[in-house]
Amino acid sequence: MRAYQLPAFGLEHLRRIELPEPQPGPGQVLVKLEAASLNYRDLLMAKGQLYRAVELPIVPVSDGAGTVCAIGEGVTRFKPGDKVTTLYKSRWLAGAIRPEWAGIEPGGPDDGVMREFACFDAYALVHAPSHLSHLQAATLPIAALTAWQALEMAHVTSGQSVLILGTGGVSLFALQFAKLRGARAIVLSSSDEKLKRAKTLGADVGINYVTHPQWSPLVREATGGRGVDAVIETVGASTLPQSMDAVAIHGFIGMVGFMGGNEASITLTQALLKRVHLQGISVAPLEQHERMNAAIEQARLEPVIDHVYGFEQLREGFDLMATGKHFGKIAIDFSK
Ligand SMILES: NC(=O)c1ccc[n+]([C@@H]2O[C@H](COP(=O)([O-])OP(=O)(O)OC[C@H]3O[C@@H](n4cnc5c(N)ncnc54)[C@H](OP(=O)(O)O)[C@@H]3O)[C@@H](O)[C@H]2O)c1
Repeated sequence: MRAYQLPAFGLEHLRRIELPEPQPGPGQVLVKLEAASLNYRDLLMAKGQLYRAVELPIVPVSDGAGTVCAIGEGVTRFKPGDKVTTLYKSRWLAGAIRPEWAGIEPGGPDDGVMREFACFDAYALVHAPSHLSHLQAATLPIAALTAWQALEMAHVTSGQSVLILGTGGVSLFALQFAKLRGARAIVLSSSDEKLKRAKTLGADVGINYVTHPQWSPLVREATGGRGVDAVIETVGASTLPQSMDAVAIHGFIGMVGFMGGNEASITLTQALLKRVHLQGISVAPLEQHERMNAAIEQARLEPVIDHVYGFEQLREGFDLMATGKHFGKIAIDFSK
C-alpha cells in the first residue's frame, strides 16, 4: 500500500514508500483511509519543532477519515462499512486527561494517517457525521474539536461576543461554532480578502491586524467598550497582551496556540482586576468529539476547505500551510 514516512526531521526528508497492509488484532479496527487534513502541528512535527524526542521514522499527519474494512476480536463499536475519523488524543475518552496519555497522538509520536490502510484501537476512532464526505470529516479531529472545546469551556451563549484570531483551521471552526451558539464574532486577519470571506460565514466584524497592529481598542469599540466575552487565542505570546486588553471583565481566554511565541508577558494586575479566566486547551476527549459530531450533524455544518491535494502532493500541502495563505483547512484526497 502507498504510505509516507518521515525518517528524519525536515520536510525535505518526507518520502513516499510502500508498506505491507496491516491486519487488525484483538480490539482493533482496520480502516481504509480515504482522506487526511493538515494541521499546524503536522508542520511543526515534520520540522522537529514539536516533540524532538520522537522515535523516527513515523508515518506523518494526525487527522484522517475513512471506511472500516475489518474488525478484530471483541470489537462492537464499529462494523465494516462504517465511516470514521481518527481521535487525536487517542487514549483520552472522558474526564480529565492523565499525564501518561498526553503524548499518545497519531502523526507523531505514533504513526499517523498518510497510508492507505491502518489499524486503530476501537476507542481511537469516532463515527463521522453522516452528511459529510471523507474529505470534510478528515478536517474535524484536531481543528474542529479544539474550537468546540474552547467555546464549550467559555460557555459561550447567544448574544455574547467572541474574538477569533486569524482564518486558519481552528479559527474558522471557532467562527462557525460561535455563530451556531448565536454569538457575535469578531475576526482578525492579515487579509481584507479573507475578512470578506469570513463575513460570508457570519463574522460580524473584521479587523485587519496588519493595517491595525493595535487592534485591541478596535475590538473594545466593536463591543461598545465592554470587551469580548471570549477570545480563542490561536496565536500566543505576540497577541496575548492585546487579547487581555480586548477581553471583558470576567471574560475567558482559551489558550490554544503558540505560533506567535511561547513566552508571554502579561500584566497581572490587569488579569486580576478583570477577573480573567485564562484556560489552557489541548484538544478534547472522545466524549466531546462525539458530542461535537452530533451538533455538526444536526446543524448540517460544512467545514471550510481551502485547498485539496492528491495523495502524491502532500509536500505541496505542507508548503501552502507554511505560507499561511490558506483560509480554513487544507485536505488530502487519497483517491487523487
Ligand atoms: N492547543 C490545541 O489543542 C491546539 C489544537 C489545534 C491547533 N493549535 C494551535 O493553534 C494554532 C492554529 O492552528 P491551525 O491548525 O488552525 O493553523 P493554521 O490553519 O495554519 O492557521 C494559522 C492562521 O493564524 C493566523 N495568524 C497568524 N498570525 C496571526 C496574528 N498575529 N494575529 C492573528 N492571526 C494570526 C493566520 O490567519 P490569517 O491568514 O487570516 O492572517 C493563519 O492563517 C497553531 O498555533 C496550532 O499549533 C492548538
